[in-house]
Amino acid sequence: MEKKIAVLVGSLRKESFNKKIANELIRLAPTTLKMEIVEIGNLPLYNEDLDSNPPQQWIEFREKIRNSDAILFVSPEYNRTIPGGLKNAIDVGSRPPGKSVWKGKSGAVVTVTPSATGGLGSNHNIRQAVVFLDVPMMQQPEAYISKVHELLLEDGKTVNEKTETFLKDYMLAFEKWINHF
Ligand code: FNR
Repeated sequence: MEKKIAVLVGSLRKESFNKKIANELIRLAPTTLKMEIVEIGNLPLYNEDLDSNPPQQWIEFREKIRNSDAILFVSPEYNRTIPGGLKNAIDVGSRPPGKSVWKGKSGAVVTVTPSATGGLGSNHNIRQAVVFLDVPMMQQPEAYISKVHELLLEDGKTVNEKTETFLKDYMLAFEKWINHF
């Protein structure tokens, strides 16, 4: 059965490695998964005072998540944890109380970094926040993509063959995972 997947990319920069890997995950995903990157960079910072009259960007973001079946997080690690922009998006989607748009979704997280550590801190902190929000997250396989600049071909966009196989298998496992729910 066809599923709609919201892809949230934790980096806002144009030449983001995470955006490149997210695009590769989209390219390599099984055809049953309709994947779309949902913009998070335009979301005003979460502030409870705004809940009575929320900004249009919050409304549109919440609607896109509500209309998705599952969420794929693709994110860098900033200072050993979740980048602020992504945490803000998670917070915006979680409110007001009782109206969280995350509930009932399932998900997975891929962290990507040029360093050797694979974004482990960010990966687990994303998991921690969204599991609390009732999003069951795929446990295996895990995806900590380290030294990402060494995995891209000369075009600077496409991953090498070994990585392509890994990402393809990851998306097959993700398809299987979200079909549990
Ligand atoms: C980083 N970077 C980084 N890398 C890492 O592996 N662990 C970390 O804790 C951090 N901390 C960190 C903080 C801040 C504020 C920045 C801007 C960067 C480096 C980071 O992985 C690198 O800039 C990536 O290229 C960011 O991902 P994108 O933008 O390429 O997707």
